[in-house]
Amino acid sequence: MHTIVPVPASVPKSESYRQIYTQLAELIKGEPDFLANAANSAALLYHLLPDVSWVGFYFLRGDELVLGPFQGRPACSRIAIGEGVCGKAAEDRETVVVGDVSQFEGHIVCDPASKAEIVVPLLNWGRLVGVLDVDSAKQDRFDDDDREGLEALMSLFLAGQATDDLPDFERLADGVEE
Ligand code: SME
Repeated sequence: MHTIVPVPASVPKSESYRQIYTQLAELIKGEPDFLANAANSAALLYHLLPDVSWVGFYFLRGDELVLGPFQGRPACSRIAIGEGVCGKAAEDRETVVVGDVSQFEGHIVCDPASKAEIVVPLLNWGRLVGVLDVDSAKQDRFDDDDREGLEALMSLFLAGQATDDLPDFERLADGVEE
């Protein structure tokens, strides 16, 4: 069993991300399986980040992002590169922070209650693997501290994977058998 240690609401955001980093490191230590670690990472973040309504992954398959492990309400399964907040972060290979999703042109509504969103691209040696998407029902929920914290967490998540364990999504999408 793995115990989640709640982060006190009183600590500064940067310190809260440090505590989450330590817990994520412990959670994925010794486990090379990409899917298991993605599922556990989404669950840990969903339970430790305050005021979030959805946390999950989309992984690149061919030229689309396809829904991966997540916590929250069911979401759209596929997002084209360049579409929505997720597609924009994937296209630019840069984190996108949206304070008010109604003001983001092309935002894809999965949960009408969602007001703010942050999407972090997952880059494995410069190659796009997918994105982490975090939603909140609270406007302006995410800031630069969240960007830095979540980018550090995603670096840790990717570093925990053996490079050859990362699924070859392009090959899978093409249906090529070895
Ligand atoms: N709002 C996202 C779509 C994914 S859901 O929020 C889970 C977007 O615009 O890309």
